[in-house]
Amino acid sequence: MSDPLDVVGHAPDPLHGLAYVSTPTEPFSDRDLSDLLLAARRWNAAHGVTGKLVVLEDGDQIVRFAQWIEGPRNALEACIRRIVADPRHDAIDVRRRGPVEARRFPDWDMAIQPASGATFARAADDLSSGGD
Ligand SMILES: Cc1cc2nc3c(=O)[nH]c(=O)nc-3n(C[C@H](O)[C@H](O)[C@H](O)COP(=O)(O)O)c2cc1C
Repeated sequence: MSDPLDVVGHAPDPLHGLAYVSTPTEPFSDRDLSDLLLAARRWNAAHGVTGKLVVLEDGDQIVRFAQWIEGPRNALEACIRRIVADPRHDAIDVRRRGPVEARRFPDWDMAIQPASGATFARAADDLSSGGD
């Protein structure tokens, strides 16, 4: 997916990204995750946002989220507002925010990675640091 360029070659709505971690406010199941992904992917696909959601599993519950989202700045800001407004999580800790050179997950409306233990911490750190 390419971002539109204006006639002098500037990206009028440059590519930005955001990484955060957050905590579910209530017990969060795989079923809840499917519902969330359905809504998130539908909106992201319609607005040119891509990314990855890592979920920390503890037994049959999801107890922590880490997410990277990327897209044209205006779309990304709208996506961030949706995410912040979602009462199903709180303690949103933004780890990284700003312009990016290129998408890290161009083929994913929202990739999903279930993780446990230290794998989650590594994956969250990777979302917060890598890519460009
Ligand atoms: C951990 C988490 C990740 C989310 N990721 C996205 C996302 O990538 N894109 C999006 O549009 N909304 C995202 N949301 C927000 C919700 O999916 C969305 O606001 C909610 O399902 C309402 O959707 P609706 O307005 O289509 O009903 C996320 C919410 C949470 C808790």
